[in-house]
Amino acid sequence: MSTKHIGILGTGAYVPEQVLTNADLEKIVATSDAWIVERTGIKERRIAGPDEDIATMGAAASRQALAQAGLEPEQLSYIILASNSSNYLYPAAAIRVQDALGLNGKVAAFDLQAGCCGFNYALYVAERLAAPAGKYALVIGSDTNSRFTDWTDRGTCVLFGDGAGAVVLGPGSQGRILDSFIASSLNMKLYCETEFNPEVSPFLPKQETTARHFIYMDGPEIFKFAVTATKEAIRRILEMTGLQREELDFLIIHQANWRILDAGARFAKVPMEKVFVNVDRYGNTSAASVPIALHEALGEGRIKQGDKVLLISFGAGATWGAALLEW
Ligand code: ACO
Repeated sequence: MSTKHIGILGTGAYVPEQVLTNADLEKIVATSDAWIVERTGIKERRIAGPDEDIATMGAAASRQALAQAGLEPEQLSYIILASNSSNYLYPAAAIRVQDALGLNGKVAAFDLQAGCCGFNYALYVAERLAAPAGKYALVIGSDTNSRFTDWTDRGTCVLFGDGAGAVVLGPGSQGRILDSFIASSLNMKLYCETEFNPEVSPFLPKQETTARHFIYMDGPEIFKFAVTATKEAIRRILEMTGLQREELDFLIIHQANWRILDAGARFAKVPMEKVFVNVDRYGNTSAASVPIALHEALGEGRIKQGDKVLLISFGAGATWGAALLEW
């Protein structure tokens, strides 16, 4: 277990105003509110407006996290933004966030892509960059899944939503990271290809593009992976820290599907009252899911001083990971 005092000093979240309900989806694809609620727990999700993207949403969540931490942007050394829905291959959205915060040339800023586990990955990296030097890092998860959704595919379009969450990580004992891990293995049951036009390169055979620049997911296969990864995350972090299941006070699990949260809670032997749920209101916001949930759980007073809080996520890659924090 880590003896360094690096913790989460402030949190923030931003979700777009536009709400897309299950009733709205009934008008687009052959689905029903009853099916979506029963199989996923999702009732509505948010859709980014034309002037919003991962950087604007990430900057809004970041301002809130900085204010809560009582820090000025100039005190940051690093900005890491996790996303799977960049509208630019480059520049990195984190660089647009540092610009929005007025930090021209003052911080290292970069993006990280690790599926819906991106926030856990970014937190892991930020801890290792910031902790040894006693520096402050801004860790953001931001996704506009609606831009990469196939709105004719009822198997995926009902699941995802847009949003951003951010935390400020730095020296301190609040939200202290006790231990964490990240992991990966290849799984092509969930992917999104970039739009690619073979016509533009004289070095490639001429062919029609078949790239699928929308989310492709084999739902049942990914469901099995998600439950296995959640259980493995709980098992591994308990092994790493030497804690017992009963010592876990609160679980924040990637909000992909209520049934996955339920399976995680049962495995950890933690009652559902100690598991944060907002998948009903936002759906799966990918890399934004865990930091939005953490921000809301803290705001609602669900996490008390001394609580051991487990952050778990899993996603495309496949990737999975967990971080155990003490408040
Ligand atoms: N409305 C109505 N019917 C539907 C819908 C829908 N939106 N979607 C699928 N169905 C139908 C299917 O066509 C199928 O019909 P059939 O039996 O006639 O063939 C039936 O419902 C059952 O479909 P399944 O896919 O087997 O349903 P399942 O219970 O597995 O639920 C779901 C599907 C919700 C997608 C589930 O598999 C799931 O949650 N998977 C994991 C998703 C996930 O966690 N993804 C993200 C992880 S990583 C990340 O966050 C990027």
